[in-house]
Amino acid sequence: MRLSIVALALLLAGPAVAQRPPAAAFAPEAEDPTTFPDFPGRDETFGFCAACHGFKLVAAQGMTREQWDGSLTWMTVRHAMPELEKAERDVILDYLAKAFPPKAPEGGRGGWRNPFQPQ
Ligand code: HEC
Repeated sequence: MRLSIVALALLLAGPAVAQRPPAAAFAPEAEDPTTFPDFPGRDETFGFCAACHGFKLVAAQGMTREQWDGSLTWMTVRHAMPELEKAERDVILDYLAKAFPPKAPEGGRGGWRNPFQPQ
């Protein structure tokens, strides 16, 4: 019971955690890579991305490989993410595209869909 309150507090503290300097990422965190989809490259991706912010921030997104690629470029330009070697970037992009694909149904173009309408 007590534990779940702590977990909830950590969850709510998420956005604040992202503001902290990267050093804070090495503090013990509630996040565990094994709770995320199991595809090749998970540990590399988790280790790299979670250095700055919770991996939940990443897992909450759903994008195509191209969109993830753009997102990483943006992260490099906007948030001073270190430039990745091509091989490493490929591993990470393959993982992200597999584990967190666009959530909208095929052809949905990411738009909102009326759940009551026949699909
Ligand atoms: C050098 C630090 C750093 C690294 C490494 C990093 N990010 Fe970020 N990222 C940030 C910061 C800073 C933000 C903004 C956080 C906020 O708004 O709370 C952010 C935000 C995001 C967002 C949310 C974007 C939005 O529109 O809200 C996503 C998605 C994201 N990062 C994905 C990634 C992925 C995937 C990786 C690993 C490949 C990664 N980040 C690695 C610093 C980093």
